[in-house]
Amino acid sequence: MPTVPHILIVVASTRTVRFADYPLAWILERSALRTDFMFEVLDLRDHPLPFYDLPTAPALSPRQYGSDEERELGTIFDRADGFLIITSEHNHGYPAGLKNVLDHFFAEFNHKPVSFLGYGNVGGSRAIEQLRQVVAELDMVSVRPTVHVFGMQMMEIRANPEARREAFARLEPRLDILFADLHWWSAALKAARSAG
Ligand SMILES: Cc1cc2nc3c(=O)[nH]c(=O)nc-3n(C[C@H](O)[C@H](O)[C@H](O)COP(=O)(O)O)c2cc1C
Repeated sequence: MPTVPHILIVVASTRTVRFADYPLAWILERSALRTDFMFEVLDLRDHPLPFYDLPTAPALSPRQYGSDEERELGTIFDRADGFLIITSEHNHGYPAGLKNVLDHFFAEFNHKPVSFLGYGNVGGSRAIEQLRQVVAELDMVSVRPTVHVFGMQMMEIRANPEARREAFARLEPRLDILFADLHWWSAALKAARSAG
C-alpha cells in the first residue's frame, strides 16, 4: 500500500475526439513532477457502463456488483485516496456518462476528497458546482480550489503547441494550489479512514 495519497484522475468526456486530452496531458506532465502523490488515470471512455439497473441502491448494498465491468471500476475507485475529475460542460451540466458512473457506486467514494478541472465557455464552472452537490451525497469532500479553462483559453490551446504551452503555464499556480489542498485532504482522510 503506498504511503503517499493515491489520486485517481478521472476523464469525464467519452467522446472520440475531445478537448479533454489537452488538460489530461498537461495534468500528467505536472503530476509527474510530484513525489507527494501517486497518480492513476481513469478514462471513462475505456470503461463503458450500461445505465444503472441494479436491484438496490449502492448505498444499501455496498460492493454488490452486477457485472465484471462494474467490479473492475469499483476496485479502481476503492484504491483511490482522492480524485481529480476533468470535466466538460453540456447544457450547463456535467456529462451524463459521469453521472451514470457515480450512481453505480457509494462506499468506494465515502470519506474521500474530490477536486475538479473544468473547461468550457465559463471554465466548466456550472458543471463543477453541480458536481459538488452530487459528491456531497456520496459522502465526499469537494476541495475548494478548482482549475478552469475558459473558452478563450480553449482556443489558444487548440491553436498551436506554443500557445498551448503558454495557456497552461498561466494555470500552473492554480493547479499547485489545488494540489496543495487535495494533498491536505487526501492525507488527512486517508489517516482517518485507516484509524476506523
Ligand atoms: C449538446 C452540447 C451542449 C453544450 N453545452 C455547453 C455548455 O453548456 N457550456 C459550455 O461551456 N460548453 C458547452 N458545449 C461545448 C462543449 O463543452 C465542448 O464541445 C467541449 O469540447 C466538450 O468536451 P470534450 O471535447 O472534451 O468532449 C456543449 C456542446 C454540446 C454538443
